[in-house]
Formats: sequence, C-alpha cells, structure tokens
Amino acid sequence: MITVKNLIKTFGGIKAVNGASLTIEEGSITGLIGPNGAGKTTLFNVIAGVYAPDSGQVMLGDKDITGLPPHELFHRGVLRTFQIAHEFGSLTVHDNLMMVPAQQAGEQLLNVWFRPKKIREDEINIARKADEVIDFLQLSGVRNEYAGNLSGGQKKLLELGRTMMVDARIVFLDEVGAGVNRTLLKTIGDAILRLNKERGYTFCMIEHDMDFIGRLCDPVIVMAEGDVLASGTVEQIKTNPQVIEAYLGTGVKSKKERAAT
Ligand SMILES: Nc1ncnc2c1ncn2[C@@H]1O[C@H](COP(=O)(O)OP(=O)(O)O)[C@@H](O)[C@H]1O
Ligand SMILES: [Mg+2]
Repeated sequence: MITVKNLIKTFGGIKAVNGASLTIEEGSITGLIGPNGAGKTTLFNVIAGVYAPDSGQVMLGDKDITGLPPHELFHRGVLRTFQIAHEFGSLTVHDNLMMVPAQQAGEQLLNVWFRPKKIREDEINIARKADEVIDFLQLSGVRNEYAGNLSGGQKKLLELGRTMMVDARIVFLDEVGAGVNRTLLKTIGDAILRLNKERGYTFCMIEHDMDFIGRLCDPVIVMAEGDVLASGTVEQIKTNPQVIEAYLGTGVKSKKERAAT
C-alpha cells in the first residue's frame, strides 16, 4: 500500500533518515521499532507530509505522494495521529470528533450560506457518527468531558477516534502505548485490531512495548541510524543478532561493514 524508496531527510548535519526503503502491505498492522534517535518519527513525518524529504520517494499504491501536505494526504485516507492540541483540550470528546470532517471538507464554507438545510443534515449525521465512535472506543463515560481532562490513555483513544470520523485507509500511530496503563492499553490494542479486521484499516505503528507489538504487529520493521536494519515476524526480529546488537547499544555496523562480514 505504501512503498518508501531510498528516503533521505537531514536536519542540518544530522541524517535523521538515511536511505530507508520499506513497504507497508495493505491490511497489515506493521510495527516500526528501533532505538531512540533511529529516525522512526522523522520517517513517519515525511510519509505523512509534515516534512518534505531531501530525496527519495513515497508511493501510495501506484500514486506518488512524496511531499504532499497533510491535508492532501487526509483526502487520500492517509492519517497520522497527533496528540490532542491545546485548543482542542477545551472541547468535549464529542465535539473533538465533530471537528474532524469539517477539517477535511474545505469547500463547506460556501454551503453555510447557500445550503443551510444540507449543513444541518450533515451535522446530525456527523453527531450520530461521533456517538458510534464513542461507543466503539468505550468512551461513553467521558462523552461530555473536556478532552484536556482525559487520562493519557483516553486521549490516545480519542486520537484513534478522530481517524474513524473520516474514511481512513492507513493510519500512522507514534507511540500510542507510551505512558498508558495496562487496562487502557488493552482497550487501545483491541480497538486497533477491530479497526483492522472489521473496517480494513492498515496500520503502521511505532512502539517500544514488545508485548504490545507482539500482540498486534506482523510484520515488524526495525530501524537503526536512519535506515532499515531488519524486518520480519516478532519472533524473527527478537532473535536477529543485528537487532540485538542495535538494542544493546554496541553500535550498529554500517551497510558496508555488514556487507563485509
Ligand atoms: N526537527 C528536528 N530538528 C533537528 N533534528 C531532529 C529533528 N527531528 C529529529 N531530529 C534528529 O533526527 C534523529 C532521528 O530522530 P527521530 O526521528 O525523532 O528518531 P526516533 O523517533 O526513532 O527516536 C535524531 O538524531 C534527532 O535528534
Ligand atoms: Mg520518535
């Protein structure tokens, strides 16, 4: 579904992503792991249009989406979740969900003036959809709570919920499990699995918790020093000597060094 070819993204002298190539298969829940500073978040941000790459290519199916801005990708169903921003903290959970389709529909301002009836119908439908999402994610207890008052895990669920308000095809999750308690982590994991199985979402998720990865992800891609080090099933990854070496911090051999051994 997504093919990344020879992607390079530098910040000043730092090669955050250094020639990475990978594919994310349609219908998969692909895990992305690697030591801190490996370039995982930067790779996400380039795919999701936050940064343009220095060079390389990102394909969605057979369409070149390299460097397209986030709202263009949004239209194509490519979504990256973000932490709930400050301005959304003072909106309720329900209202946060209501905001999403409006962000997607750029032309609706004209409708406000010329088609008020249509707008009202749309709003009723969107409100109904928001309640379905709230049910699906078991957030009914905090439906009218300000997003700013939610626990870390509930905020993550709400982020996931925002992707359900539009027709997402692939969703990028950056450390969705970080700082989340076990119970909510289970709920988040269940929601991801159900979205994958029942609604055909493809996921690519950066995660550190190997149990969480093991439960959800196949395949797992390992990054180190801006490049892809290995990929395979969780079991293959866990026993891969190069991966173990990267995590033990003994230094990762460069491509040349690896080729030489
Ligand atoms: N906006 C930025 N400006 C400068 N350097 C950055 C920026 N974002 C990331 N980096 C650097 O790029 C490298 C990769 O970072 P990052 O993609 O966040 O890795 P990861 O998510 O795997 O921990 C790090 O050395 C980091 O310091
Ligand atoms: Mg990161």
